[in-house]
Amino acid sequence: MTPAEAFFSVHRGLYREGPGEAADVRWALEIAQTPAHARILDAACGPGADTVTLAEERPDAKLHAIDKTPHFVEETRMRVARFGARVNVEQGSYMALADTYDFIWCAGAVYFHGVKPVLDAWSPHLAPGGAVAFSEPAWMIDPPSDAARKFWADEYEPRSLSQVEAEIHAAGWGVLDQRWIVDEPWAAYYGPMSARLDRLEETEQAPEVIAAMSEARQEIANWQAAREEIAYSLFVVRRP
Ligand SMILES: C[S@@+](CC[C@H](N)C(=O)[O-])C[C@H]1O[C@@H](n2cnc3c(N)ncnc32)[C@H](O)[C@@H]1O
Repeated sequence: MTPAEAFFSVHRGLYREGPGEAADVRWALEIAQTPAHARILDAACGPGADTVTLAEERPDAKLHAIDKTPHFVEETRMRVARFGARVNVEQGSYMALADTYDFIWCAGAVYFHGVKPVLDAWSPHLAPGGAVAFSEPAWMIDPPSDAARKFWADEYEPRSLSQVEAEIHAAGWGVLDQRWIVDEPWAAYYGPMSARLDRLEETEQAPEVIAAMSEARQEIANWQAAREEIAYSLFVVRRP
């Protein structure tokens, strides 16, 4: 079993694959003044929690969800089946878009490629007046505590809010608004993951999966040690 297969044995069957809640999606749609008949993309949809909210919040919109991981694509397809043909889910990379959108939503996945490269890649695929909303790891308190640093240690090096904003501006975009994703939306991710780990523990025998489970438990413990400080910044951005 590869490390990726072991990782995805843990990361499967969860409602969402990163911190967030429906209120974040609603807030971003309003800030962007996304019209009723918008063309909307959920970039890196994971298992589709936000795709569902987008479809519910804009019942006349046409939605496209994309993720590179096949089993997330399947989970999202099952979740959005009730919306019919107006929601289309595809496996692929958000760095190689084909269509044009009024609103692009991306929760917890821009950092795989970096803010400027992603905004550069999306710029030709955004309709005039359109907007992008994305969440990015950032320090709420600068300098951060040792506990907050420990959480991100092997994963990513978050930056201060002003550093992320500087990168957005350098890419030629303006910030319409920003808010923090902290504490409860993270609990909405780690609570169900904890319950999944409890269930897996009863039956799982493969050493690779047991190692991945132990990493996940450590990640949750590291988050709990600094949960009021570990945050994503949610940005709504537009080209001037
Ligand atoms: C932390 S998860 C967030 C998933 C989802 N947005 C959520 O909040 O539940 C990151 C996701 O990014 C996807 N991903 C990473 N790079 C990608 C890319 N270039 N194109 C499409 N999906 C990508 C992964 O497969 C994974 O589903």
